[in-house]
Amino acid sequence: MTTAIEETLVLVKPDGVARNLTGEILRRIEAKGYSLVDIRMVQADRELLAQHYAEHEGKPFYEPLMEFMESGPVVAMRVAGNRVIEGVRVLAGATDPTTALPGTIRGDFGRDWGLRVQQNLVHGSDSVESAERELSLWFA
Ligand code: PPS
Repeated sequence: MTTAIEETLVLVKPDGVARNLTGEILRRIEAKGYSLVDIRMVQADRELLAQHYAEHEGKPFYEPLMEFMESGPVVAMRVAGNRVIEGVRVLAGATDPTTALPGTIRGDFGRDWGLRVQQNLVHGSDSVESAERELSLWFA
């Protein structure tokens, strides 16, 4: 068991906001013992999303993902806690809502619309480096 107080970026994606799941997602994060440090609602533009998803440019899901993320407001949260980066990703569940385990956010609420887009409700940074980079983008 290690101690590592970290901060991570959580995004409630447009499907989560539209389906009024922001409170439920935050409730799960807080119930786990993590702390909300900052929160804002953002209508993300191409420039912000291109920076956020720079590592995925050229992948088959890149364009549908960008269109989906531009389709409505997202809620960006700065969340702190011990090993919170890994912890939030466990709470979120697998990327694919079809295979995400029940009990996870995506397993309980995520929807897979086939080729069109994966609506998987939530994003969590995947490493300390990503968290620092993403937090500086969304909470400039
Ligand atoms: S990879 O290639 O393994 O790094 O991809 P992965 O980590 O699974 O996913 C990267 C982000 O792309 C999203 N994603 C998708 N969005 C829409 N449609 C499809 N088909 C799709 N496949 C992957 C996935 O949710 C990740 O976004 P974030 O915001 O990090 O959740």
